[in-house]
Amino acid sequence: MSQKTWGGRFTGSTDTRVEAFTESIHCDQRLYRHDIRASQAHARMLAHVGLLTQAEAEQILRSLDEIRADIDAGKMAFSTALEDIHTHIEQALIAKLGDVGRKLHTGRSRNDQVVTDVKLWMREAIDELDILLGDLQKAFVELAERERGLILPGYTHLQRAQPVLAAHYALAYVEKFQRDRDRLADCRRRVNILPLGAAALAGTSLPIDREFVRAELGFAAVAANSLDVSSDRDFALEFVFCLAVVATHLSGWAEEWVLWSTTEFRFLDLPEAFCTGSSIMPHKKNPDVLELIRGKSARVIAMLQQLFVLLKGLPLAYNRDLQEDKTAIFAAFDTVHSCLGVAAPLVRQTRFHHAAIAARLDDGFLDATTLMEALIARGMPMRTAHETVGRLVRECEQRHCRLDQLPDELFPWPEVKGSLGAAQALAAFRSYGSTAPAEVERQLQFWKQRLAQSPLNEPER
Ligand code: ARG
Repeated sequence: MSQKTWGGRFTGSTDTRVEAFTESIHCDQRLYRHDIRASQAHARMLAHVGLLTQAEAEQILRSLDEIRADIDAGKMAFSTALEDIHTHIEQALIAKLGDVGRKLHTGRSRNDQVVTDVKLWMREAIDELDILLGDLQKAFVELAERERGLILPGYTHLQRAQPVLAAHYALAYVEKFQRDRDRLADCRRRVNILPLGAAALAGTSLPIDREFVRAELGFAAVAANSLDVSSDRDFALEFVFCLAVVATHLSGWAEEWVLWSTTEFRFLDLPEAFCTGSSIMPHKKNPDVLELIRGKSARVIAMLQQLFVLLKGLPLAYNRDLQEDKTAIFAAFDTVHSCLGVAAPLVRQTRFHHAAIAARLDDGFLDATTLMEALIARGMPMRTAHETVGRLVRECEQRHCRLDQLPDELFPWPEVKGSLGAAQALAAFRSYGSTAPAEVERQLQFWKQRLAQSPLNEPER
């Protein structure tokens, strides 16, 4: 008999080039634990409804445990002739148990099996990412705390705009990574729906109990339409989208710190352990880790594109194209996972150059907008105040001085000069969510407390 699980209707053997072309074992072997877990749940269900005897189910469960231990120990020889992880495990079971092993695939198909495996994997992947993102948030909160009093120039268009507290700056990233965690938690809700039991596409005439399998595997619900199940990869799109957003956040931050570590900015001292040197220029300390975080984001975004293009022309239900989903899913996950792994320690070990930042803090008119607001507060119409301060800035440029160095008589009210200078301007902020010291302190306390309660996004199983 053919070694193929589908060999019955074939007389000849598969071309080895086709085996090499159609295999997915090189990529889906990482699902072996999930495949075995799902198979064990399936076997228990088959016994529960009488499609297997208790004794048969026990044999299958035990043998699957052994197969998992063999794969853990690197003892399984993977072969392209056996296509994918599902076939490898089923064949290993049949090799151990003969006819009893040949009963496991009752009432299921690889089409629902593969989605179940991927969803079991993805649930864990999301939980792992949540922990890594939480740790990165903590690293930024620690930075906020460490640099509590430090004032930085805030930028728009990469031009000096208004002063901000370094703590406010760090907490901005905490917010972004929180949204990333929330998005992943939301995605997890749709991942957490059981596909198994949809069989090939239409369900089965056998008396399976999908609710039993749902409870065994801890899914929140059973997928309602069998035709939908084997073609549904929305959850994969969402997952990779969530990762593309994380990668985009990381990339923007990396770009900022690459700039901030230059001699031109001199805001930051990056940890040596996270930099590399040059083979020809002895003085170089290059921010390669940040550059690669920025560079690797390209792959994650590309994987989202790959999935969309893969899915956009597929009729219902299963099509073999879908096998290509896993390379995109895994590549996106592995890339973001590795970036997060280096991002948090890099944040923890980076130090700000207080003196260099302070020395130039009063360059660039960071106080101009606050001055305008001081005029508004004294009753001047906003547009008039804007124009007035604009003229004062022009005056400064001609005299090569700062706003607080202009003579008093140029100001409509001389006392507004009290709000000048970056530090004074910073102290004047008051609105909710602003960089006002009291606001930032409130936000810092909020995040310290919130991140201490971990895990933050309690996974619902
Ligand atoms: N390796 C396949 C995949 O990843 C498993 C499902 C194959 N189903 C089939 N009918 N050939 O999509």
